[in-house]
Amino acid sequence: MGLIPNDVIQQVIERSDIVEVIGNYTALKKAGRNFKALCPFHHEKTPSFVVNPDKQIFHCFGCGVGGNAVGFVMRLEHLEFPEAVRFLAQKAGVVVPESEPALSSPSRQLREEVLKVNNLAVGFFHETLLTSREADAKVARDYLKGRGVNLDTVKKFQLGFAPNEWDALLKYLKSKGISEELASKAGLIIAREGKVGYYDRFRNRVIFPIADIQGRWMAFGARALEATDGAKYINSPETPVYTKGQHMFGLSLTKAGVGKLDKIVVVEGYMDMIMPYIHGVENIAASLGTALTADQIRLVRRYTPNVVMLFDTDAAGQSAIVRSLDLLIDEGMNVRVATLTQGQDPDSFIRQQGVEAFKARIDGAVSLLDFKFNWLAAQHDPQTVEGKSKISQELLATIARFKDEVAKYELTRELAKKLSIPEGVLLKQADKGLRPPSFEKPVAEARLSASLEEGQELLLALFLKDPAWVTAAKETIGPEDFPEGLARRIIEAVWSLSHETVSWSVNDLLMRLPDEPAQDLVARLISVEEKKLGDAALVFQDCVGKIRKEKQRKARGELLEAIRRAEALQDTRKLEELREQFNQLLKTSC
Ligand code: UTP
Ligand code: MN
Repeated sequence: MGLIPNDVIQQVIERSDIVEVIGNYTALKKAGRNFKALCPFHHEKTPSFVVNPDKQIFHCFGCGVGGNAVGFVMRLEHLEFPEAVRFLAQKAGVVVPESEPALSSPSRQLREEVLKVNNLAVGFFHETLLTSREADAKVARDYLKGRGVNLDTVKKFQLGFAPNEWDALLKYLKSKGISEELASKAGLIIAREGKVGYYDRFRNRVIFPIADIQGRWMAFGARALEATDGAKYINSPETPVYTKGQHMFGLSLTKAGVGKLDKIVVVEGYMDMIMPYIHGVENIAASLGTALTADQIRLVRRYTPNVVMLFDTDAAGQSAIVRSLDLLIDEGMNVRVATLTQGQDPDSFIRQQGVEAFKARIDGAVSLLDFKFNWLAAQHDPQTVEGKSKISQELLATIARFKDEVAKYELTRELAKKLSIPEGVLLKQADKGLRPPSFEKPVAEARLSASLEEGQELLLALFLKDPAWVTAAKETIGPEDFPEGLARRIIEAVWSLSHETVSWSVNDLLMRLPDEPAQDLVARLISVEEKKLGDAALVFQDCVGKIRKEKQRKARGELLEAIRRAEALQDTRKLEELREQFNQLLKTSC
């Protein structure tokens, strides 16, 4: 720390509302004074992640993580402490004085530079689409208009056009001082084969910028204006900021809607997301091409566990859904599958039949079992013995992935009914070892309380609830009375804070303890309910009393040892002194 002045850190904390910060990542629901959400740090079905607006902290009762706004950003964005402070400062409009460039790691710096280049490119493509007088740009404008994309939409999605030239973007980036090397790292230009120099990756194409969940531009999709022999879409390669299958197209715009409606519609393509969205479907995002990845599912899970898959009706689309299903189950999501008329995708369906018909399809989505059964039944005749056996095998394996025993049981019974075989047969088969992969249970909470004596933990909880207890405790005990370790470190920070000011806050404390174990423990102790703490004064007396006794026991032991040594040395003067001390100690002991 220390690189960012303390008063600046203070300002950042004061101006960042943790509810807002966390609300950017996961859907928060009001629960009394607090907010609840599905924990973004571990897998869960019922929310145990609590945000406390009064104390400005978060805590997960499930996996034990906790901390303040800075700690949250550090974990979720994988940032170091100063980076997290800067991140929040930017959002809160606090100016952080620049310090040595050595502050950011090289990879972090490269990421930031690539993002800067991406921003420039988005602006360039967008301006070109809006204002270029070139004939090709006109064609692009007409193309979008023809597809029902109006100016508002172009602006909302920052759609653009890459000119029909070899180096339009390259020239522009150079004029902005961007090196070829950096532009190529951003995936925007490509080195000429066997020659010097570079050329633009995207040419004569409509540009769909791809944002991360916070709306930062990570990559590009570029669509050909007409049928070409080349690919319909060309996308960014992987870059320092972009890994395929990490983002959901459109989710940065719809995350609030997804949270509010507690359901997401997942489609395949750019236009499949854009069309329904501009017609009022506010809980939709696109996976961009293939089956959902675990990363994408985890992203979605921050906002809702309820997914409706709506992919193209062709074989590729349907098998991409099937490939997504097992992962979705593994991640504990509730999945349904919607289908459109044969040969349609969301974009064409809405233009043909309107958004109400589209919404009706979403509402009519079938269960995962129904969908997969139908899909399998199209390949294996469920009237034949062979078909029944094949279908049941496949589906039992899927059912086995559910973690909920009741759900497994019910689904197996349902499957038996569909195949017209006695449910006993399937249940027996299901029991025979088609076990789901077991899931790791977070253990942080149990481990932490075992590593600390309960009394000390309670005392620490009191200190955090009300600094007045610190003042009271300071008369009798000090940090040195705690065993070395996490609790002692926290107590030391508490002591030094209360030495500086009487009115310190939990956030002040957390700023001094930016490491995860400390943040977790502090947040957990703050979240201990009042009633669990019981009568604070009694708890205090009890805990301090125990610590003091322990302290005296130790002091007595040490004195006796010294007395023994003095006796052995026949140091009478010393002996007298020590005996006097020992008597004093006995007098003050209780
Ligand atoms: P589709 O072939 O279904 O295209 O691919 P689309 O979305 O309907 O496109 P329009 O409506 O003709 O413009 C679905 C998605 O797969 C990815 C794109 O993300 C696309 O939106 N894709 C498709 C590619 O990345 N490259 C391709 O060549 C084709
Ligand atoms: Mn389409």
